[in-house]
Amino acid sequence: MSEKPEHFIIDGKRLDGRSVDELRPIKIEVGTLGRADGSCYLEWGNNKVLAAVYGPRELHPRHRQNMTRSVVQFRYNMASFSVDERIRPGPSRRSIEISKVSREAFEPVVFTKFYPKTAIDVFVEVLQAGAGTRTAGINAASLALADAGIPMRGLVSACAVGKVDGELVIDLMKEEDNYGDADVPVAMTADGQITLLQMDGHLTIDEFHEALKLAKTGCDRMYELQRQALIEKYGKESMIDTEDDGGAPDGDIDE
Ligand code: CDP
Repeated sequence: MSEKPEHFIIDGKRLDGRSVDELRPIKIEVGTLGRADGSCYLEWGNNKVLAAVYGPRELHPRHRQNMTRSVVQFRYNMASFSVDERIRPGPSRRSIEISKVSREAFEPVVFTKFYPKTAIDVFVEVLQAGAGTRTAGINAASLALADAGIPMRGLVSACAVGKVDGELVIDLMKEEDNYGDADVPVAMTADGQITLLQMDGHLTIDEFHEALKLAKTGCDRMYELQRQALIEKYGKESMIDTEDDGGAPDGDIDE
């Protein structure tokens, strides 16, 4: 592991040359996998993640079926070669936690009531990790769900905010994530309804409110790139008209 740097911000620039509110470079491809119902490959800084969606399909074992809605299942996995020190294959406390919070980031957004007794399976494979894999996975999963044609209230976009050298910064890189004072991954819909919010470290109340504003800026930028990636694959005409939700239930996300 790299050593803790003496300063994270020098002359307004971070260790990788970014300003405090700049995202790392992002590359997105929708529909990468032929066999999945929906898929997405996403690079974000040093992260390389692949998301695959299967379903809605009959849920087995049957006793886990819900008669009134589809069950969203989410598996986040890091390839053993994705980090410097080989990861032991199989679930870990960390991957179980990330799978859980990622599933919860989509549950309020997916119209699960359209598909009783089924499962919607989301798989995220981290091929290369470089800080922020849960947010990268959620962004890729969001597009894989859209690619699979799963009806949703909208795309979910995610971005982390943190604090280094007493300043709030957006989209943490490895050193900032490992040695910074706070790490706050956030996921939200385009209209700003938060579906994931975690916090590692300490922020004052004012900093926290400021961090949420910064996270919104990051998520907005991510949303625009996600939209572009969908338009690239499907063309503008087939994009869902955000004004017309096709008869979907109205109102708040937790309705
Ligand atoms: O990846 P994310 O920031 O969502 O989760 P984290 O638990 O805060 O991990 C931060 C980073 O630490 C990861 O993105 C990896 O680059 C690294 N990591 C690692 O090197 N080995 C692990 N077993 C877990 C994480």
